[in-house]
Amino acid sequence: MNTIQIALVRNSFAKVQPIATDAAALFYANLFAADPSLRALFRGDMAHQGQRLMSMLGSALQLLDRPAALVPVLRNLGARHAGYRVLPTHYDMVGAALLKTLEQGLGDTFTAETRAAWVDLYAVIARTMLEGASEAAVAA
Ligand code: HEM
Repeated sequence: MNTIQIALVRNSFAKVQPIATDAAALFYANLFAADPSLRALFRGDMAHQGQRLMSMLGSALQLLDRPAALVPVLRNLGARHAGYRVLPTHYDMVGAALLKTLEQGLGDTFTAETRAAWVDLYAVIARTMLEGASEAAVAA
């Protein structure tokens, strides 16, 4: 991702942060509407889970220009997700639910350029998490 894209995702996420609780709830509603079977993977309290998701996304955005620090965090996160029975195909569904939520939350300010930057960001996050998941599978 280039510096313009990094600025676009950071600025748009900053607009979501004041409504983070609602955005997280909307995200899970979108995700479970797209695939109700995913609900069974989540065992804890969904409000708490929403906070963890938003806070992890925030940390990833802060570290975007420091890949050496970000990559191990995401690989470990991906390895833990394999333990939550998350499959590689689920990542596409989460990406689609995330984009839909940003679109709903940000309205007109979610421009085509901002959307493209989020698509790239999510691809990097998912790829790195999946690398961590497959390394964990090899080590097991
Ligand atoms: C951008 C990608 C993602 C991020 C940033 C993210 C973030 C998180 C975080 C921070 C946790 C808390 C536990 C931990 O740190 O290990 C978590 C748990 C979890 N995530 Fe994700 N996640 C992502 C993708 C996914 C995908 C693709 C799925 C598939 C449906 C998923 C399903 C789950 C489940 C089932 C849990 C465990 C919940 C529980 O304890 O009941 N996540 N995620």
